[in-house]
Amino acid sequence: EESKKIVLTEDASLPSTKKAKISQLSELRSQRVRVFGWVHRLRSQKGIIFLVLRDGTGYLQTVLSGVVSQTYDALTLTLESSVELAGTLQVVPEGKTAPGGHELIVDYWKVVGAAPGADDAFTNRLNEKSDPSIQADLRHLVIRGETASSVLRLRAHLLSAFRDFLVRHHLLEVTPPCLVQTQVEGGATLFSLNYYGQPAYLTQSSQLYLETCLPSLGDVFCVQESFRAENSHTRRHLSEYTHLEAELAFLSFEDLMDHIEAVTCETVDQLLANPVSAGLIQQLNPGFKAPERPFKRMSYFDAIAWLVEHGIKRAAEDAEGNVILDESGQVKMVDHIVGDDIAEAAERQMTDIIGTPVFLHSFPAELKAFYMKKIPAEEGAKTVYTESCDLLIPNVGEVVGGSMRISDVEELLAAYKREGIDPAPYYWFTDQRKYGTCEHGGYGLGVERFLAWLANRFTVRECSLYPRFVPLSFV
Ligand code: 4AD
Repeated sequence: EESKKIVLTEDASLPSTKKAKISQLSELRSQRVRVFGWVHRLRSQKGIIFLVLRDGTGYLQTVLSGVVSQTYDALTLTLESSVELAGTLQVVPEGKTAPGGHELIVDYWKVVGAAPGADDAFTNRLNEKSDPSIQADLRHLVIRGETASSVLRLRAHLLSAFRDFLVRHHLLEVTPPCLVQTQVEGGATLFSLNYYGQPAYLTQSSQLYLETCLPSLGDVFCVQESFRAENSHTRRHLSEYTHLEAELAFLSFEDLMDHIEAVTCETVDQLLANPVSAGLIQQLNPGFKAPERPFKRMSYFDAIAWLVEHGIKRAAEDAEGNVILDESGQVKMVDHIVGDDIAEAAERQMTDIIGTPVFLHSFPAELKAFYMKKIPAEEGAKTVYTESCDLLIPNVGEVVGGSMRISDVEELLAAYKREGIDPAPYYWFTDQRKYGTCEHGGYGLGVERFLAWLANRFTVRECSLYPRFVPLSFV
């Protein structure tokens, strides 16, 4: 009853406040400041309220005591309410720790937007025990958490570090369209839509557009959403993901792999050199170390032999691609042979055993997309290989896919034919070879997969702001 009567007013005789974000407070110690944010943690002890404030830039320990902790609002304050706090910033006493090394002694505060208590309280809607499907539906609340927000914060640092690297290496950023009428990575994973009465798709990759930029802008890159109708529910597949793609002219296949290794390593080095991003990596993935260079390079041919040697088998399939069962009803497992796709499970086992990033390269043409440059083979050779590479990383598997591209117009026309692709909608891509062709190559890097590696996340879904993935009921 008493508390209802206490109305807090700000003491006009106090020094005026500086409004600040939590991350900027170090420069304002011993001064009177005003901060705004959300109640991240709340504890009260002997009439003193210890409140951890969160404003997105950091966390701040605050102390409410005396009259400021006795108001009705103080006694009914709930987690996730938004508040305004004014007070003096003090270095924490020796032997105590707090984020930033200081705490706010509050002399005036007010609730901006109260969050509900009781049944509808934040922690009743979402807590550590919440089922993953509930967490997915409540992603907008999950991202308020310390881990989820740190992953997203690291993601922002990662994107700028990638951009810094690419700009430093003279690549120009472009923004290709998402609405397209051509396929890049095969028809099976296309999302189609009606584009003013014509068939169109959501882009799978911006590669073809990047290739057309080379004669105009030189080496280019983009950070664009790619869309894949992936009909499998795995730890590393999203239906929409952020695709970092680059295309470079006048280079060799070796140069391309060197570049992919450099973008990986120099980006990690930059993140580890910056105390903020290094702190996030340390928090999410304690003990993370930058990978050693040079990366191991293994041809597809050697990889098949390696799999056989290490007893890593694949499921046997009939001519229609159906899995074959043995007498006891188990999936029949057989050795890999040249020509087999190295499936996700085998690839994962391989990277986990090797334990370091590894390039698999020179895949058979029949396993890869139509645009890849072939390695000259003898007449009648059984398998034709391509100048292609995948970068595999422990815990995640493939994070980068790249290749040299067909530069000869006749070879490209033959490739359309072999794949049953109508060349008509690709006229602009073909023209690239007609008007001053050049040796060129590029790659696509899955940003969520790269982040899953850096931040040691179990699935790429944790590395996307609002992940889109195939519903379990659909698979
Ligand atoms: O290997 P992909 O399919 O290659 C391309 O799209 C090329 N056209 C890229 C290029 O050369 N410009 O995809 C490249 C990378 C993969 O290594 C993987 O990291 C990521 O994109 N990726 C996915 N990430 C999340 N969910 C999915 N469904 C993904 N599919 C590919």
